Amino acid sequence: MFNVENKEFEDKKEFYQYMNKKLLYLIQQEPDTLANLANSASLFGLLIPEINWVGYYVFKNNELVLGPFWGKPACTHIALGEGVCGTAAETLEVQLVKNVHEFPGHIACDTASMSEIVLPIIKEDKLVAVLDIDSPKLARFDKEDLEGLLETVNILSKHISWQL
Ligand code: SME
Repeated sequence: MFNVENKEFEDKKEFYQYMNKKLLYLIQQEPDTLANLANSASLFGLLIPEINWVGYYVFKNNELVLGPFWGKPACTHIALGEGVCGTAAETLEVQLVKNVHEFPGHIACDTASMSEIVLPIIKEDKLVAVLDIDSPKLARFDKEDLEGLLETVNILSKHISWQL
């Protein structure tokens, strides 16, 4: 159980339902992709407990480029297959990393990061970006986070374009 905005949640499922509802409300009337990425990164940073970085790496010119985020300044270019983000982008599979120090090639943008989850955002079979979330806590992300965040990227993919 935890508190966000003075609200108490029974479990992660209830929390992600709340967050995803707020996300939809925030971006559904706005057609501009950059504005939606920026506002959603801010929303996630304010709501998701025990994280130190959340944001996007946008897929362009066959590499990942830093997009809107919440947290400390981060590395700007990541090649496909490089680090956790590049692996998610290359395989198009979610990377749930319990201990980043055990992930071969992990890129340490913020040394406080201990665990990480990266979800590809795919629209009409094309990779648009990845959503990257870092935590200073080991094994911060689990199956319930994954389920909630899969719905998050599903909402995002409907409200962003791949022409960034
Ligand atoms: N750790 C990531 C790099 C991005 S930062 O976490 C913001 C990676 O290994 O791809």
